[in-house]
Amino acid sequence: MPEIAEDAGAVQTDFLPLIGTDHVEFYAGNARQAAYYYRAAFGMKLVAYAGPETGTRDRASFVLEQGKIRFVLTTPLLPDHPIAEHVKLHGDGVRDIALTVDDAELAYREATRRGGRGVTEPTVLKDEQGEVRVSAIATYGDTIHTFVERKNYRGVFMPGYAPLESPDIVSRPAGLSHIDHVVGNVGWGEMNSWVRFYEQVLGFRVYQHFDDTDISTEYSALMSKVMANRNERIKFPINEPARGRARSQIEEYLDYYRGPGVQHIALATGNIIDAVTKMHAQGVEFLRVPQTYYEDLAQRIGTIGEPLKRLAELGVLVDRDDEGYMLQIFTRPVEDRPTLFFEVIQRKGSRSFGKGNFKALFEAIEREQARRGNL
Ligand code: FE2
Repeated sequence: MPEIAEDAGAVQTDFLPLIGTDHVEFYAGNARQAAYYYRAAFGMKLVAYAGPETGTRDRASFVLEQGKIRFVLTTPLLPDHPIAEHVKLHGDGVRDIALTVDDAELAYREATRRGGRGVTEPTVLKDEQGEVRVSAIATYGDTIHTFVERKNYRGVFMPGYAPLESPDIVSRPAGLSHIDHVVGNVGWGEMNSWVRFYEQVLGFRVYQHFDDTDISTEYSALMSKVMANRNERIKFPINEPARGRARSQIEEYLDYYRGPGVQHIALATGNIIDAVTKMHAQGVEFLRVPQTYYEDLAQRIGTIGEPLKRLAELGVLVDRDDEGYMLQIFTRPVEDRPTLFFEVIQRKGSRSFGKGNFKALFEAIEREQARRGNL
């Protein structure tokens, strides 16, 4: 838990310009095979690699891209490596939501001065393509934010990484364009401390919030606040469990991930029907809501540009607000532990998070939870 004074929450500052999400790094038991999944199923393209062949002795990392989305999958090569401890405790999961900054040294100095816990002191990484400056602070659980300053770098990713020489014959692009939001699950009563952390340490503000009356089913509930940085390109909803009749999906996550961590990553697309059709055909498993969801959908959301029949076949959900509408769908967890999953989202004017879908969606999640014997 971050130790940030309660009354400090009133002050909002914009001390460090965060440009956007640089990349998301996952620690995985076998990054080579995990990379194959994200390439074949999600359509990510392998662009760079670091490992023994490139002079990195203790780990192997695969850099995947699609649109502006960049994932790094990393595996330790030694049993006593800190990454091996992370994988042992959490299973495969997100270690780092790295943020692009203008000045990694300033970002670190300011963030730590404001109560952030430093993880990596400002470091300069160099090769013949230039230099990348990095630093990192801790956030919830064992998750970190690396600050990446890459304005003086021309290479494919970072020093130490070699670009792929041949085209990726595995990648099957699905038209995913960028990261819309990254959601963290934190423990009981911890949401507001992490809200203050993002306000105070990184200059975020509360963008939207949902309480347990918005997000509850017969069995369980959760609360959520969506944090956004100044340019609103980075959005981090923070969830905590709320009391219900049974174990909430957030608690199931916390039990299996062994603490707070990234629950889901929402990937944006300009054509959700096309993206989900491809991903489904490529083996991505999506959550299903009952067909009854679609019976009164036209009434609820009015006219939309997509054929409802096709949305119903795919299981895509729709929600509308004052500004427009949005389409979204969620995968099943992508690990054996019921932890990290993905969302595919297409926004048509709406900047919201699908409040009208929460009930149908959480009931779908609970049916899966019950199948695992965890409800
Ligand atoms: Fe989401």
